[in-house]
Amino acid sequence: MKHALVIGGTGMLAETTLWLADQGYHVSVVVRNKQKMDKLIERSTRSDKLIPVLVDYKNTEGLIHRLREDFERHGTPQLVVAWIHSDAGKAREVILHEVAKATVPFNLYIILGSSHNRDVFRQEINVPDHGTLHIVQLGYVVEGNRSKWLVHDEIAHGVIDAIRNEKMEHVVGVLEPWEHRP
Ligand SMILES: NC(=O)c1ccc[n+]([C@@H]2O[C@H](COP(=O)([O-])OP(=O)(O)OC[C@H]3O[C@@H](n4cnc5c(N)ncnc54)[C@H](OP(=O)(O)O)[C@@H]3O)[C@@H](O)[C@H]2O)c1
Repeated sequence: MKHALVIGGTGMLAETTLWLADQGYHVSVVVRNKQKMDKLIERSTRSDKLIPVLVDYKNTEGLIHRLREDFERHGTPQLVVAWIHSDAGKAREVILHEVAKATVPFNLYIILGSSHNRDVFRQEINVPDHGTLHIVQLGYVVEGNRSKWLVHDEIAHGVIDAIRNEKMEHVVGVLEPWEHRP
């Protein structure tokens, strides 16, 4: 069974979550808000493929428990897409640890905001040999002589593009010149 895990899959990554289900993945979605998740399931043409994993990822014990439960039922994911806030404590570490425990090869797509340094991030994160780290960084869009932040669809489709083409690094929009950001 193709199994994907999406962290934060009901917000700006909603279209990415729906797309993964359309690609035949069983998609486990880590979120807190059941109503938002139910709305996403209603929008999906493959609603049977969307699996809510309702937990606050800042709650380490709860997160471990819910992930183990999910992996037991649906197998360890081969694909992880993670948009995790910087104040999330150990969430990223915990998710990576739980996914990497099985020796199943996996692809990890981490979404980073504009102000991160991808090289530093790559050095700091400890991905084992059977995992492949892909970094998707969010930039801004230039329209004529104005710039604007990315909207949800642009972000979600940028992430889809990165997954489809297995890009190791992908910037959605642009990051330079920094002083032209909105
Ligand atoms: N450079 C850029 O253009 C850039 C960069 C970053 C962000 N942004 C923008 O900033 C906006 C706000 O970002 P946002 O983070 O609110 O994104 P979001 O993707 O709209 O929402 C956050 C997602 O993460 C989940 N989530 C958040 N905290 C969680 C927690 N503690 N435990 C479990 N799940 C959690 C939310 O679900 P629940 O609420 O159900 O928990 C939701 O699915 C976005 O709309 C995006 O457009 C732009």
